[in-house]
Amino acid sequence: MPVTSQCRICDGTVQEFYDFGRQPLSDAFALPEKAGKDEFFFRLATGICTSCTMVQLMAEVPREEMFHEDYPYLSSGSSFMREHFEKLAERFRTTELTSEDPFIVELGCNDGVMLKALAERGIRHLGVEPSGGVADLAAAKGITVRKDFFEAEVAADIRAKQGPADVIFAANTLCHIPYMGSILSGVVNLLAPNGVFVFEDPYLGDIVRRNSFDQIYDEHFFFFTAQSVQKMAELHGLELVDVERLPVHGGEVRYTLALAGARKPSAAVAELIAAEQEQKLTDLSTLEGFGANVTKIRTDLVALLEDLKAKGHRVVGYGATAKSATVLNFCGIGPDLIEFISDTSSTKQGRVTPGSHIPVRPPTEFAARYPDYAVLFAWNHAEEIMAKEQDFRDAGGKWIQYVPDVHVV
Ligand code: SAM
Ligand code: TMP
Ligand code: ZN
Repeated sequence: MPVTSQCRICDGTVQEFYDFGRQPLSDAFALPEKAGKDEFFFRLATGICTSCTMVQLMAEVPREEMFHEDYPYLSSGSSFMREHFEKLAERFRTTELTSEDPFIVELGCNDGVMLKALAERGIRHLGVEPSGGVADLAAAKGITVRKDFFEAEVAADIRAKQGPADVIFAANTLCHIPYMGSILSGVVNLLAPNGVFVFEDPYLGDIVRRNSFDQIYDEHFFFFTAQSVQKMAELHGLELVDVERLPVHGGEVRYTLALAGARKPSAAVAELIAAEQEQKLTDLSTLEGFGANVTKIRTDLVALLEDLKAKGHRVVGYGATAKSATVLNFCGIGPDLIEFISDTSSTKQGRVTPGSHIPVRPPTEFAARYPDYAVLFAWNHAEEIMAKEQDFRDAGGKWIQYVPDVHVV
């Protein structure tokens, strides 16, 4: 009997294609003395809707379990990402925010990495951010933040108090939100007649191409394609009018939606949809092939780490990413195989990784005594990290990567 669930976009049938087993919350970094006590687990599995083709998780984790006062992800942790968002802010300012008193709303503004540049220029803005700790960091930068989950009622309240928005933006946030009907009806209500809803999220095409299965974890509920986003938009009186491939976080797409009929779709939309159809991206057989590759990565990674341990080599991890939770728990890797994980986030240091309980340490500990090997869990920041860690290479250190396959560089 195939395992199915109900599609969170169109109510159709979601057919499961891969089961990652029992997983913890990917961002639940516990203090060592609390490790293993009251940990939340759920079954992480992915499926595809046989009607609208949206790839999604089979089970939903309650939002308050993931996004709360102690949510540890800090957007400003990567200089590359800071630049990426500064560039986008400038683009918004010069293209969409040109009226006399423009207004931009960002969902999931986190520590303010995108809105900062606009706030500094006096542009009317609002960040909607439910995670209290990161929202406070944004507020400390002079950004106006509302500590709330964005949804239809919140959108209506913003519209009533501050008027329509010229831009609604969300980066690495929309794919986190299962209650899409409420979000999109809120967007339609809040958007100015010629306004745009722009969001960027990991692209299923890149995940399948790179076998980057670690993009699949509790917070990433949807895995968008141009085809599925176009259908999702249509269901809510919106239209997909532009798509742009982005080189960030291992491959994303920036989607632009407008009210239906308000803007002419660019050629890029039809081109990306044609490419997806050509690749058979949303065929069950393609997704099952991806699953077979993932199973092989698990076998190869565990074999490599066990072999290195048997030979007496020191192995640490680099980047205690949310993504690493899937790798570590799916592969059953713990502190016996990886001594600690180096991470720049003060919110994660001194804690242990969810489920696998590997200590997280500051980069100073990495540099104090370089290991023989480092597993690059933050592979999406590889260029930035490898450039700054040249001393590790010079000392004979080697990087272990596991996407698109297990290899040592
Ligand atoms: N935009 C930042 C970036 O790209 O780096 C932050 C991305 S972070 C992975 C996701 C953010 O979405 C978190 O800060 C979380 O608190 C926020 N979030 C989750 N559900 C939300 C909702 N319903 N409305 C607004 N923000 C939400
Ligand atoms: P992300 O892949 O979800 O952006 O998470 C990156 C994680 O890696 C985050 O916890 C910060 C950490 N990190 C480092 O430790 N060093 C670095 O140079 C970078 C870019 C990230
Ligand atoms: Zn569907």
